[in-house]
Amino acid sequence: MLIGASRGLGLALAEEHLKRGWRVIASVRSASALDAHRGVYGERLEVVTLDTTDWPAVDALGEGLSGRQIDLLIVNAGISGPITLPIGDVDPDVFTKVMLTNALAPLRLIDRFAHLVPSEGTIAVLSSDLASISRNTIATWETYRMSKVALNMGLRSLSIRRRAEGRTYLALCPGWVRTDMGGPNAHLSIEESIPRLTDAIAARAGEKGVSYVNYQGQEVAWEANGSAAVWR
Ligand SMILES: NC(=O)c1ccc[n+]([C@@H]2O[C@H](COP(=O)([O-])OP(=O)(O)OC[C@H]3O[C@@H](n4cnc5c(N)ncnc54)[C@H](OP(=O)(O)O)[C@@H]3O)[C@@H](O)[C@H]2O)c1
Repeated sequence: MLIGASRGLGLALAEEHLKRGWRVIASVRSASALDAHRGVYGERLEVVTLDTTDWPAVDALGEGLSGRQIDLLIVNAGISGPITLPIGDVDPDVFTKVMLTNALAPLRLIDRFAHLVPSEGTIAVLSSDLASISRNTIATWETYRMSKVALNMGLRSLSIRRRAEGRTYLALCPGWVRTDMGGPNAHLSIEESIPRLTDAIAARAGEKGVSYVNYQGQEVAWEANGSAAVWR
């Protein structure tokens, strides 16, 4: 199941899993490029409508899926917020919207849908390199970074709270990719990121526990390891 599959990385993740033979339930907020695939993939592709910050709708979708099994749940939906604005100048309502969309919404959805994912299944969120505290040497994206750190911390807590249930939990770093959010100067094309990210997810299937991993399948540092301040 792909949450937020209308464009960019979410659409590409849905397409990649369809190409690899998966049955995909993909959520979008409105009509999207995904609709064109319905004819190609037939009943292997199910499209549902969801805004992840519409809390009653998330609950209703979870209830509607009752009895289904989701082997892989990927929560991709996210927004960037102001990129260059210092945190002190960010409108509190904008800050709240980014935090709700990028941190609370994915985690709340996972808590509502986790029982549909079996012990051997995987739950993944689209985190970011920008959430690594120790790798933050350039600032910018301040609101976004804070939201993805909150997402990582929340995923870790959720996975620990639910550890008796098994499952693999992944905070994914797709690399800096040319999408509407990543922009035209990003290092990677979607084709350079998503097949490898999909391999990285598959490689950890059944592993259990929680990991912060990049599209090359490598572990990313969650935090500073007592290293000296980078600005000195
Ligand atoms: N691109 C990168 O370099 C990069 C790097 C690291 C992490 N990421 C993360 O990867 C994910 C996808 O990024 P992207 O580059 O593909 O971004 P994007 O091109 O801006 O696409 C964002 C996606 O999220 C959906 N979305 C946003 N808010 C939503 C909500 N409230 N409910 C449901 N769907 C919502 C959008 O749907 P609509 O079409 O309806 O707006 C769209 O499908 C994000 O979580 C992002 O933070 C991206």
